[in-house]
This record gives sequence, structure tokens and C-alpha cells, in this order.
Amino acid sequence: MKQITGLVGREALVEQIAREARKGRHLLLTGPAGIGKSAVLEAVIDRLLLRQRRIVIQVSEHQAKGQFLEIARGLLESGLLKPSALELDAGLDALDPAALEWAKLKRAVNRLSIRDLTAAIVPALHAQNGRVLLAVDDLTAVTPTLVAFWLAVCDAAQLLACASAKRPNVAKLWWKLAEIEIPPLPPEHARALAQSYLQQTGTLVESPALFVAHLIQQANGNPQALADLLADASKERVVNKQRIREMKHAAGVKYLDFTPVMIVALASVVGARYLAIGTGDTELYIFAGMLAAVVISVRVFLFRGAGKAN
Ligand SMILES: Nc1ncnc2c1ncn2[C@@H]1O[C@H](COP(=O)(O)OP(=O)(O)OP(=O)(O)O)[C@@H](O)[C@H]1O
Ligand SMILES: [Mg+2]
Repeated sequence: MKQITGLVGREALVEQIAREARKGRHLLLTGPAGIGKSAVLEAVIDRLLLRQRRIVIQVSEHQAKGQFLEIARGLLESGLLKPSALELDAGLDALDPAALEWAKLKRAVNRLSIRDLTAAIVPALHAQNGRVLLAVDDLTAVTPTLVAFWLAVCDAAQLLACASAKRPNVAKLWWKLAEIEIPPLPPEHARALAQSYLQQTGTLVESPALFVAHLIQQANGNPQALADLLADASKERVVNKQRIREMKHAAGVKYLDFTPVMIVALASVVGARYLAIGTGDTELYIFAGMLAAVVISVRVFLFRGAGKAN
């Protein structure tokens, strides 16, 4: 989405986060999946690089081993770690780091254990005395066994990370990071984003205002939800009104709980029936029977509707 439209509506937020980062703080960007954490983090890094000469290592893997490999690679390529420290051929130490071909080294480095990688990475970061900035796109899957590693990273380097959930079993790590929650995109920016996407992709829409209003309501300020709905729509030759009405996205579906209403309705039916029998009121008895029929059929339709919304 960002490749098509550019980053929309996050200017102030990116500046605010960059300002916090320049103070040297460890930061954690949080928010639900698709809200734009990765996109904002990337923009923050670009901004920091404009003004400061920092060594930035970007980690985009979500799983531990992949993250360790990316850090090792970043350190190797910026000359902060000698190949021999990763048990590679010592002859490579003499090479210019830019001449190292990661594709050829990766397999050998991958054979190292997490413990060996930790023993190489942490001292290399320490030697830089806080000069390295690690941008870790996603720490959501971090496990308790890795907390010690990440705490050591926080002591030696600056950490900027994203997480869609803060698992309580790694709370010690979260304490180290100042949390910045990425808010939903406000409606005016969501509108600008949708309009820009439609223009860029040349999607034809029968009634653009209705379409965009519908999208914004469905996506609830979540750019990924917007992107999914738009990508779906752009497959059509022309998006007509029928299609707009059919579009639904989980992020925007409002779940109404009718259970209390149904309980009250059923209780009234039963109460009315007893009252009718007790007082011998035939009309009330018939009315209660009809009400029961209505309640039961409404219930059937409600459940069908809920099934569709999912
Ligand atoms: N402000 C924005 N303007 C344009 N595109 C955006 C914006 N924010 C996010 N996007 C796009 O929306 C999609 C989802 O954003 P992103 O991947 O940053 O979300 P996330 O919060 O990191 O999600 P996850 O938790 O799944 O990693 C991406 O395609 C991204 O390019
Ligand atoms: Mg992400």
C-alpha cells in the first residue's frame, strides 16, 4: 500500500517518534496488526538517518533465529564483527566488509547455535558503545528464553521495535522500552489514502463518495484493512453500488449482542402464557403463542446475519 500511495497522515507521529529516538530511548511501537507499525518504523529510521550518522541494523524477520542471523549480517557488513568471530574462515577477516557475500556465508552462520551467535553479537555491540541502532520490525513472538539477550542488546545499543501484542511472560523486556501506541488513521487521512490508491491504480467506481465512505467505515482506521478492501475492489472492472454494499471487513464489523433482548423476550412469552392460563384469558394465550413464534423466527434470522458478517 505504502509503495503505491506513500505514507499518508503519519507526518507528526513520525516526527514525534524520531524526536524520542534522538534522546537515545529504547522504543516499542504497538498497535493491532495492520495499523502501520512497520511503515511508521521505516519512516522513522529514514528520518533518523537523514540527520544523524548512526549505524542502523534493520531486522525484519519475526522469528528468533532469523533475527539473530540478520543482526550478525548487519554487524559483518558494517565491519563491526570479524568473520572469524562467527567461526567463518579467518582469511575473510582481511576482506573489505562490503566484499563479503552473505548468500555464501549464510549457511555456515546458520549452523551456529543461538548461544554462539549471542556470544558474538553482544560484545560487538558493546564495543560500539551505543552507536548502533537496532530496528527490529517485530518482537511480538519473543520468548522468555530470549529476554536476557534482548536486555543485553538494550545495554549495548539502542533498540526500536514493533509488537502487535505484549506477551506478559516477557514483561521484563517491555519495561525497558518506552511504548508508543500507533493510533488508527483518522478518517480524513484514511479518505486521502483511499482516494490516492484509487487514482494510482485507475480503479473505476460508480459512486466514489459512497464507496470511499463505506471503505472508511469498514476499515476503522486500519491501513491494512483499507488495502485489503481496495485490492479486492480493484479486481473489478467497475465497482458498482451492489458490490459496495456487499463489501465487508472484519475490522469494521460491529458485533451487536442480542442475547439480553432475546432472554427478556422469551421470559415475557413464558410469563404471558402462565398469566393467560391462570386467569383463563384465551386472547392473551393466543397472543403469547404468536409472540413466541415471532421471537423464534427473529432468532433464526439474527444468527444467519451474524454468520454472514463473519
Ligand atoms: N499511513 C499509511 N499510508 C499508506 N500506507 C500505509 C500506512 N500505514 C500502513 N500502510 C500500509 O498498510 C499495510 C500495513 O501496514 P504495516 O505492515 O506497517 O502494519 P503493521 O502494524 O506493521 O502490521 P503487522 O502487525 O501485521 O506487522 C502495509 O502495506 C503498509 O504499507
Ligand atoms: Mg509489521
